[in-house]
Amino acid sequence: MDDIKVLAVGGSRNIGYYASLRLLDLGATVTFLLRSPSVFNDDATIKRYVNSGKARLLKGNAHVREDVERAWTEAAKGDDNRPVDFLIFTVGGTGRFTLSKGFVISPPNLVTQALLNCLETLPTPTPKIITISSTGLTRASHKNLPLLLKPLYGYLLQVPHKDKCGAEEILAHCAGWPWEECDSPGPEILGANWKERVPDGGQLKSVVVIRPALLTDGECRADEASRNKQAYRDVAHFLVEGVIKDWDTWQGKRVSIAY
Ligand SMILES: NC(=O)c1ccc[n+]([C@@H]2O[C@H](COP(=O)([O-])OP(=O)(O)OC[C@H]3O[C@@H](n4cnc5c(N)ncnc54)[C@H](OP(=O)(O)O)[C@@H]3O)[C@@H](O)[C@H]2O)c1
Repeated sequence: MDDIKVLAVGGSRNIGYYASLRLLDLGATVTFLLRSPSVFNDDATIKRYVNSGKARLLKGNAHVREDVERAWTEAAKGDDNRPVDFLIFTVGGTGRFTLSKGFVISPPNLVTQALLNCLETLPTPTPKIITISSTGLTRASHKNLPLLLKPLYGYLLQVPHKDKCGAEEILAHCAGWPWEECDSPGPEILGANWKERVPDGGQLKSVVVIRPALLTDGECRADEASRNKQAYRDVAHFLVEGVIKDWDTWQGKRVSIAY
């Protein structure tokens, strides 16, 4: 673990942040693509890792293709010639509430387009990819939600979930997973020629999608053996202790997690 190279896109807070911290603690080198690197100005732990050369903070926007390309190059740097081992993709948006549409994010295809940029600029050899999605996105999975959560997912989260469907459709195409046409968010989210921007259908085998249920900002239940609700830190725990450390078990899977 101490010589792996990681690119974190969406690592300024929550899941991506806690997963990156875990990896840094294990000795990994983590490059953060950040819209505002100043987000870590008061973060003594990250600063310590920056000073030791283990954390790299790169200013950039995942919606700008060239910025993502630079991030891959930065993440591969080092004395060795080894490529980037992992992409941890946890991009998301802070929703603004509206009466007509529930929580909206801006732009409405935030996650989909950021993911397309990451896949369009993928280096060779291809890194292992871990992305965060959500539960209850597709018609089939929405049916299986607990009754009380259905209005939340169907109304309040319809806009961010359409965006996540875009990201999931892209990954399903690249990984060769089944995907129902009725769950497609269409070209307004995906763009017209998105298939030309990503690896050919079924070619991307080293990918894991984690679909967490609703999260809180509490302590890590997995670490603390407490009765807390599932927190960002728990997803980070699973991402590192489960997925990264036991890649062969999880590779090629879409995993729903909840307590
Ligand atoms: N909260 C929940 O209950 C829950 C449940 C299931 C799934 N999820 C999903 O899981 C994912 C991760 O969630 P989270 O709570 O860990 O993180 P989050 O609060 O959604 O933050 C997302 C990250 O994406 C970054 N980002 C947004 N737009 C960007 C851009 N254009 N370029 C570069 N970075 C950008 C943000 O950076 P800035 O600092 O620049 O804003 C932030 O680091 C999200 O997609 C979220 O919707 C959340």
